[in-house]
Amino acid sequence: MKHIVETDETAFNRRSALEIAELIKQKADIRICFATGETTKGIYHELAELHRHEGLDFSQVTAFVLDEYEGASADNPASCLARLNDQLFDRVNIKKSNISAIASTSKDLHQISKEFEQHIGQAGGIDLMLLGIGTNGHIGFNEPGSPFHSTTRVVPIGEDTIHARAEMFGSREDVPKTGVTMGIKTIMNSRQIFLFAKGVNKAAMLEKALCGPITQDIPASVLQLHPALTVITDEEAASGLP
Ligand code: F6R
Repeated sequence: MKHIVETDETAFNRRSALEIAELIKQKADIRICFATGETTKGIYHELAELHRHEGLDFSQVTAFVLDEYEGASADNPASCLARLNDQLFDRVNIKKSNISAIASTSKDLHQISKEFEQHIGQAGGIDLMLLGIGTNGHIGFNEPGSPFHSTTRVVPIGEDTIHARAEMFGSREDVPKTGVTMGIKTIMNSRQIFLFAKGVNKAAMLEKALCGPITQDIPASVLQLHPALTVITDEEAASGLP
């Protein structure tokens, strides 16, 4: 595991974007999976800036969206896809046809999940997985207890996610209670993983996930087993680490 610590949020966003940009430069047709959330927002802003000012080329990049809320289409500004469009995809030269999101408005989400997993395989797998971490250790919508062999599937949205996204959806009641997420196995199959964490509220969980026992109770702890994990944090998030 490689750990990069930056002093503050600005440096964290910039460094994270530069690390992603480096991999895009090395493999122009890279397949990247994108998480959404407060942690990655600033990173995507910096990536868009690298495109605007330095010509970082997304024309051959393939994007996958890590998870999605049930019933949330791209027209819903709170959906993962809409936020990624707004924060990054609409601001760079990625081809719309190269963006794969989970069709979570479909009636048969189990079938959609199966097809999405197959689609990832047919595309050749994911080269780079971009992850945030929940304060309970979740990754994607894989809440504590998620089996390590899980693939893309329908899951209940965790209480902490409902709490964290209440404002975005309008109220707690408006946050969908179900979603679809890539599974732990899908995530672990990625060739490389970047885990991002910023802020003091992530410090305790980050320490448990990276230094504690590997257990399904802390989904992110499985990342200790990945051969190419890079953790990028600010000093606050790193404050619990040895
Ligand atoms: C969202 C997702 C979640 C977030 C996590 C951290 O697509 O996959 O697992 O990465 O909840 O969220 P923030 O960054 O808002 O703290």
